[in-house]
Amino acid sequence: MTSTAASSTTGPSPATSKSRTRHFLKDTDLSPAEQAEVLDLAARMKAAPYSVQPFAADGNGRKTVAVIFDKTSTRTRVSFATGVADMGGNALIINPGEAQIGHKESVEDTAKVLERMVSTIVWRTGAHSGLVAMAENSRVPVINALCDDYHPCQLLADLLTIKEHKGALQGLTMSYLGDSANNMANSYLLAGVTAGMNVRIAGPEGYLPSPEIIAAAEDRAVETGGSVLVTVDPAEALLGADVVATDTWVSMGQEDEKEARLRLFRDYSVDEAAMKLAAPDAVVLHCLPAYRGYEIAAGVIDGPQSVVWDEAENRLHAQKALMAWLMHRSGLAVVDGLG
Ligand code: CP
Ligand code: NVA
Repeated sequence: MTSTAASSTTGPSPATSKSRTRHFLKDTDLSPAEQAEVLDLAARMKAAPYSVQPFAADGNGRKTVAVIFDKTSTRTRVSFATGVADMGGNALIINPGEAQIGHKESVEDTAKVLERMVSTIVWRTGAHSGLVAMAENSRVPVINALCDDYHPCQLLADLLTIKEHKGALQGLTMSYLGDSANNMANSYLLAGVTAGMNVRIAGPEGYLPSPEIIAAAEDRAVETGGSVLVTVDPAEALLGADVVATDTWVSMGQEDEKEARLRLFRDYSVDEAAMKLAAPDAVVLHCLPAYRGYEIAAGVIDGPQSVVWDEAENRLHAQKALMAWLMHRSGLAVVDGLG
């Protein structure tokens, strides 16, 4: 499998129109068939890491990917930087506070500058509306590297990991416990049903997915044969689950609420007792960073059912496939093997 940058432009603008450009701002931006295609490409690229080169300098192909962080990161930063390099490009990492965006310059103006220089814009930020504004003003793909509402790149890695360990996604039951109003809960719900999974979400009253997210997930589940269960009862969510997932109870920006949150979510810990309710061969996911003794017991995350290190590695493979796929579907590169 090979790929090249599309090379029909003579000026700085990419050879595509805004209407053709594909972005990945939330999990349901990929249809079920497209999600499966990205996951298949990820598996192929994991086996042959340098086989797809959408950012290699070729004609007027663009090499640089802007990777902007308004919040801190380890995995997202390293996986995007490594993935872009693997695919012949250069990742320009912009750390929190280093650019004008958000304080001296609007998102719209930033997008209009970046789209003339880079091949893809990756952005970790707060409000999802910022990502929408970035995408509306960009002819190059914009990727959500986590916002307050979604973490869709993480879910591509999670699904790839589940597929590797379970063989298929359709029909599996995936249960998430903890802060069920956060970005990870929303993404588990939306990405899980897109893959045809039965997704169960458990958290305390007031910390459950919004009616809009639940409705979007239910619509998608009708299409795929998946299902949605949202409950305050962790046992109801866990019973017989094939996949058990959790996330920190204190997301970035919520540090002031830490003490209250540790009390609020204590019945939703993924500990040894919780795991007894899941299927005996259930796998455990955590996007990391993890807080042992709170949302997950040390004996679980460091135990035999944990696949969290595969999950972390798969950020690299899944995001490489996503970037290549978006470039291909936007008409900015050609990836052999994609229609
Ligand atoms: N899981 C994840 O996104 O990790 P980082 O915050 O370290 O990027
Ligand atoms: N919910 C967490 C995810 C970290 C990867 C946060 O937003 O901080």
